[in-house]
Amino acid sequence: MNKIKAAITGVGGYVPDYILTNKELESMVETNDEWITSRTGIKERRILKGENQGVSTMGIAAVKDMLAKTKIDPKEIDLVIFATVTPDMTFPATANIVATSIGATNAFSFDMGAACSGFIYALATGASFIQSGVYKKVVVIGGDKMSAIVDYTDRTTCIIFGDGAGCVLLEPTTEDVGIMDWILKSDGGGESYLHMKAGGSRMPASTQTLDARQHFVYQEGAAVYKFAVTNMAEVAAQVAERNNLTPKTIDWLLPHQANKRIIDATASRVGISEEKVLMNIERYGNTTAGTIPLLLWDFEKKLKKGDNLLMAAFGGGFTWGSVYVKWAYNS
Ligand code: UT7
Repeated sequence: MNKIKAAITGVGGYVPDYILTNKELESMVETNDEWITSRTGIKERRILKGENQGVSTMGIAAVKDMLAKTKIDPKEIDLVIFATVTPDMTFPATANIVATSIGATNAFSFDMGAACSGFIYALATGASFIQSGVYKKVVVIGGDKMSAIVDYTDRTTCIIFGDGAGCVLLEPTTEDVGIMDWILKSDGGGESYLHMKAGGSRMPASTQTLDARQHFVYQEGAAVYKFAVTNMAEVAAQVAERNNLTPKTIDWLLPHQANKRIIDATASRVGISEEKVLMNIERYGNTTAGTIPLLLWDFEKKLKKGDNLLMAAFGGGFTWGSVYVKWAYNS
């Protein structure tokens, strides 16, 4: 009997309506469209506005989009994993909130925090639950409301991030498609370069932490850039090589959308030409755990059954990794 693999059988996504353009950022911090475009590739990003709107708002909308397309009964869902570093609250898990809201009353659910690599970590985790044979329907969501933790007086970070969420449905298959392989890595030594200092148990919220603006993303961009270029490209190349994937047989590269220059470097390391690189950074910026599922959502119609997809991400932690997916359906 063929081994059980986890196939992606549906995709959903959601981005908020509000568009924050480079032009508008020019009126908020000392920057300009030319600098942002040439250094990052970003033209605009989406922002979730309004009272009481958390990342769950976007996660719920993304899953509802997927449910409308796949027409599955939410009661059949066994597990919901939400990859995010901007949960609605520290607890309960945002995944719990989403699962109940979408009617997944028979599911268990939890959050996963691996920053920009969150979605691929959660994808590999969800796939493992399917491969074990125990669960049949797993929903993996990746999304972040970065506008909740970005300092809009800091021009080095506020130009990069945006809000959005995407999701996939995983189901078992014995066909030669699905989540084929992955390599995931982490290095806690990355903490000093990319973190949010306060609000956790080490440094709870206080008037001092608020005054020191420690509830915002802190990033040493140039250092993170160096680690990202090297590690994301290396791990993608390793996954490709050990699966005998060549530039010819890789149909699509799905890189985390942090910076167009990092994307280009990763593509060049793996030898993939521009037309095979999926990209929407110009419209959404860096949505952290949302970038890769939002690529699937935007480009779903281009993907054909049997296509070889190589995903790669790098982010806070540091965390990084690459996942090889053989696409399972024509939409
Ligand atoms: O997704 C999670 C992981 N994160 C990443 O992968 C992000 C990795 N890092 C990056 O993408 C880039 O480092 C940034 C886009 C954040 C910054 O680009 P950079 O080319 O590394 O710029 P830099 O930090 O080396 O700064 C170059 C110059 C500096 O001015 P001086 O010191 O040379 O006079 C900055 O002050 O650009 C200045 N600068 C800006 N100028 C206009 C920094 N931000 C801006 C800005 N507008 N928004």
